[in-house]
Amino acid sequence: MDTASTYNDKVVRQFSIMVVIWGIVGMLVGIIIAAQLIWPVLNFDLPFLTYARLRPLHTNAVIFAFGGSALIATSYYVVQRTCHARLAFQKLAAFTFWGWQTVIVLAAITLPLGITQSKEYAELEWPIDLLIAVVWVAYAIVFFGTIAKRQIKHIYVANWFYGAFILTVAVLHIFNNLAVPVTLFKSYSIYTGVVDAMMQWWYGHNAVGFFLTAGFLGMMYYFVPKQAGRPVYSYRLSVVHFWSLIAVYMWAGPHHLHYTSLPDWAQTLGMVFSIILLAPSWGGMINGIMTMSGAWHKLRSDPILKFMIVSLSFYGMSTFEGPMMSIKTVNALSHYTDWTIGHVHSGALGWVAMMTIGTMYCLIPRLYNKDGMYSTRLIDVHFWTSTIGVVLYAVALWVAGITQGLMWRAVNADGTLTYSFVESLKQTYPYYGLRLVGGLLFFSGMLIMAYNVWKTISNTKPVPVAVLDPA
Ligand code: HEM
Ligand code: HEM
Repeated sequence: MDTASTYNDKVVRQFSIMVVIWGIVGMLVGIIIAAQLIWPVLNFDLPFLTYARLRPLHTNAVIFAFGGSALIATSYYVVQRTCHARLAFQKLAAFTFWGWQTVIVLAAITLPLGITQSKEYAELEWPIDLLIAVVWVAYAIVFFGTIAKRQIKHIYVANWFYGAFILTVAVLHIFNNLAVPVTLFKSYSIYTGVVDAMMQWWYGHNAVGFFLTAGFLGMMYYFVPKQAGRPVYSYRLSVVHFWSLIAVYMWAGPHHLHYTSLPDWAQTLGMVFSIILLAPSWGGMINGIMTMSGAWHKLRSDPILKFMIVSLSFYGMSTFEGPMMSIKTVNALSHYTDWTIGHVHSGALGWVAMMTIGTMYCLIPRLYNKDGMYSTRLIDVHFWTSTIGVVLYAVALWVAGITQGLMWRAVNADGTLTYSFVESLKQTYPYYGLRLVGGLLFFSGMLIMAYNVWKTISNTKPVPVAVLDPA
C-alpha cells in the first residue's frame, strides 16, 4: 500500500527478495561448474548441462541477477531517503522490476540452449540486449527523475556513485553490443579483430569498475554509516574518491589484453592506469573502514557490521592484487591460471556478495517495518560460513594459480618444457576440491539467509515509512 505521501518501497522489497533468490540460484550454478571441473561426467552428456553453457549462466546470474537486483533495490531506497522525495514515475519503476526479471529469465533459457554472442559478460543475443537497453533507460529516468525532484539541495555522495554506475553501464552496454542481426538468435558484432577485443575489454573491465565496484560503493557509503551509527569518516575524501575513481577506471581495460596483438603502448597505458587505480580504491576502502571509528565495539555484537568490514577488507585486498596482476611481468605468470579466478572471487564473493548480504540484513527489516532480523544468531552463523568459504575459495586458487604458472614456464636445460599440461592439471585437483568446499560453505550461508529472511517477513503487512523520516 503506497500512497502519494510515502516512499515507494514496494519495488525495493521486490528487488530485495530477488537478491536472495538469484543469489541462491547463481551460486548453485557456481557450485555445479566447480564440481564439473573435478568430475566432468557431471554434465551427463547433456548439451545444456555442459560447462561451456553453465559458466556464462553462472556469471550472468551472480553479476546481473543477484548483483543487479541488489544495486537497483538499494539505489531506489537510498535516492528516496537522501532526496526526501518519493520515487519518480511509479509505473516506470514497476516496469524496471518486471523488465529486469524478464531479462534474467530469458538469459536462463537462452544460455543453456547455447544461444550466445560469445562476448564474456555480454553473451546475451540482440533481442535481449534491446530489452536490457530499454529497461536500463527506464531505470535511469526513475533514478535521475527522483534526484531532479529532490527536496534536499545537496546530492549525497552515494547517489553520485549510483548515478555514475547507471550512466556508464548504459554507454558500455550499447557500444559493446552494436551488432548486425542475421536471425532472431544470431548476430555479428560490428567490430572485428583487435578492435573487437579492445571494445570487449573496455566493456569487461568497466563492468567490473562500474557494475561490481561503483554501484557497490554507493551502497557502502549509505549503509555502512547507517549500520555503524556514525557519519562517513571524511566526506571530502569521498568526493575525491568519486572523481578519481571515475577518471581512472575507464583507461585500465587493456590490462586484460597483455601480450596480444593490441598495440604495445595501449597495453602499457592500461597497466599504468591500473597501478594508479590503487590510490582511489584504497582511499575509498580507508574511508569505509574509518567510518567505524568510535563504533569498533559494535563489531562484538553486530554481525551485519562484521559482514561490511570484511567486505571492505576484501575490497582492499582485491584492489591491491588487481594492480599487481596488471603489471605485464606479473600478468605473464597469472594470465590463463586460476590466480585470475581467485582474484575474481575475492572481489566478487569477498567484496560484492558480503557487502550485499550485510546491506540486505540491514535493509529488509526496515522495508517490512520490523525491529530487526528474525535471528541475529543466524546472521552470525551466516557470517562465519561466508568468511571461511571465501577464504578457502581464494586461497585455494591463489596457490593453484601460482603453481600452474610456475609449472608452465619451467624449462629444462635443453629448452624443453619440464612439465606437461596434464601434470599441472593433476597438481590442481586438490585445490579444486578445496574451492568446492569453500563454495558449498558460502552457498549454505545463503540458505540460512533465505530462512532468516522468510521468518522475518512472514505474517506481516509492509508499512511504508513517512516521507520526512530519513531512517
Ligand atoms: C558459491 C559461490 C560461487 C562459486 C562456487 C563459484 C564458482 C565459479 C567457478 C567454478 C567459475 C569458473 C572458473 C573457471 O572457469 O575456471 C566461476 C567464474 C566466475 N564467477 Fe563464480 N562462483 C561463486 C560465486 C560468485 C559470485 C557471487 C560472483 C559475482 C558477484 C561470481 C563471479 C564470477 C565471475 C565474474 C566468473 C568468471 C571469471 C573469469 O572469467 O575470469 N561468482 N565461478
Ligand atoms: C584496482 C582495481 C583492480 C584492478 C587494477 C584489477 C586488475 C585485474 C587484472 C590485471 C586482471 C587479470 C586480467 C587477465 O590476466 O586476463 C583482472 C581480472 C578480473 N578482475 Fe580485477 N582488478 C581490480 C579489481 C577488481 C574487483 C574489485 C573485482 C570484482 C569485484 C574484479 C573482478 C575481476 C574479474 C571478473 C576479472 C576476470 C575478467 C575475465 O578475464 O573474465 N577486479 N583484474
